[in-house]
Amino acid sequence: MTEKKQKTSPNNQYQQRPQKDVFVCYCNRVPKEPIEAAIRRGCDTPMKIFDATNAGVGACGGSCRPYLQKMLDQYAATGDFPTEPRHDRPPKKRS
Ligand code: FES
Repeated sequence: MTEKKQKTSPNNQYQQRPQKDVFVCYCNRVPKEPIEAAIRRGCDTPMKIFDATNAGVGACGGSCRPYLQKMLDQYAATGDFPTEPRHDRPPKKRS
């Protein structure tokens, strides 16, 4: 019996990347988890989040910043983060 050969390695970095809808910052491909960790560590402004994660400053001009602010506001108010993903579409690439 022959083993079915996998098309890609289990260690393939592409497979480990999060789905597009879990990114908060599409420009810099930053998912929610490192942003949440940065906020828990004390980052309390969008620029501090950028310093810690690179989220919030990119080619789109910062379309993720309202969601970053929402994360900050909800964490400050409740100690928890929004559960819904960022709903707006990823910015189109500029040519
Ligand atoms: S999506 Fe975050 S800077 Fe563009």
